[in-house]
Amino acid sequence: ASTLGAAAAQSGRYFGTAIAASRLGDSTYTTIAGREFNMVTAENEMKPDATEPNRGQFSFNSGDQIYNWATQRGLKVRGHTLAWHSQQPGWMQSLNGSSLRQAMIDHINGVMAHYKGKLAAWDVVNEAFNEDGSRRSSNLQGTGNDWIEVAFRTARAADPSVKLCYNDYNIENWSYGKTQGVYNMIRDFKSRGVPIDCVGLQTHFTGGSSLPGNFPTTLSSFAALGVDVALTEVDVTSASTSQYAGLTQACMNVPRCIGITVWGVRDSDSWRSSESPLLFDNSGNKKAAYTSVLNALNSA
Ligand code: G3I
Repeated sequence: ASTLGAAAAQSGRYFGTAIAASRLGDSTYTTIAGREFNMVTAENEMKPDATEPNRGQFSFNSGDQIYNWATQRGLKVRGHTLAWHSQQPGWMQSLNGSSLRQAMIDHINGVMAHYKGKLAAWDVVNEAFNEDGSRRSSNLQGTGNDWIEVAFRTARAADPSVKLCYNDYNIENWSYGKTQGVYNMIRDFKSRGVPIDCVGLQTHFTGGSSLPGNFPTTLSSFAALGVDVALTEVDVTSASTSQYAGLTQACMNVPRCIGITVWGVRDSDSWRSSESPLLFDNSGNKKAAYTSVLNALNSA
């Protein structure tokens, strides 16, 4: 196949990108995005500060712009994200305790009602762990250690049709404390029947040409817990062709690795733009890393 999405679809997978609503008027951007990808994540537009700017007042304008742009072209959409320590609206940042716990539940219910039945997956909880595998301290963590499972139970009840994911960065290396912390939480959730369907490995790779230690073991170990695995925010320092090919091949080798999303279209669209970490250059030309990914998808 000659595009990333079609090549991934040959094995029942998807290949996606983050989309920014502010760039939907740029025809170079939309031409590439509409041609190459079959899954979309809103880069910022479905986060809590965007969707509930005032308590109890929801705003879906920019999220819906992305949703409509994608679905009009036959692309699917991942929701990102419902409960996170960062990008909270100001009113939420100043809450704690039981009123924050209730606000989190109300936020999940309000946003998921709007998108009910429409999305492929939700990142229900984002980035809740420290590098050593302990829980990150935040106002949400301060409401009690059970905030994550309450978020997932609330999400399942709000929309039983959508896959519910836990999403984090630096959980690619199997020997890393944070990877083990997330793994143990998901194992515990599965053993106690807390609803969770997938784990997202953000896959923001920095430096080097080889994959983080035992990356394939990480993917297969998560999958063995009975959850789908996805690479959700991929970008790679200088777009190392060997790392891009390796991470693609690693996903293709694990049946429950269901798809890969890169965190932007062109280098100039990236939050790490100075590192040129994506598959298209600033002018929209395919880079060498594009070809290495396409070949890996086609050779599976
Ligand atoms: O929209 C405002 C604009 O009105 C204002 O003039 C401008 C001035 O600073 O800021 C704009 O908002 C920025 C927004 O991106 C849109 O460009 C925010 O300041 C900026 O903080 C925000 O950064 C986003 C970042 O998340 C915030 O946490 C990045 O675009 C986005 O790529 C990044 O994505 C995260 C994932 O959600 C979670 N994993 C890590 C990943 C990278 O940090």
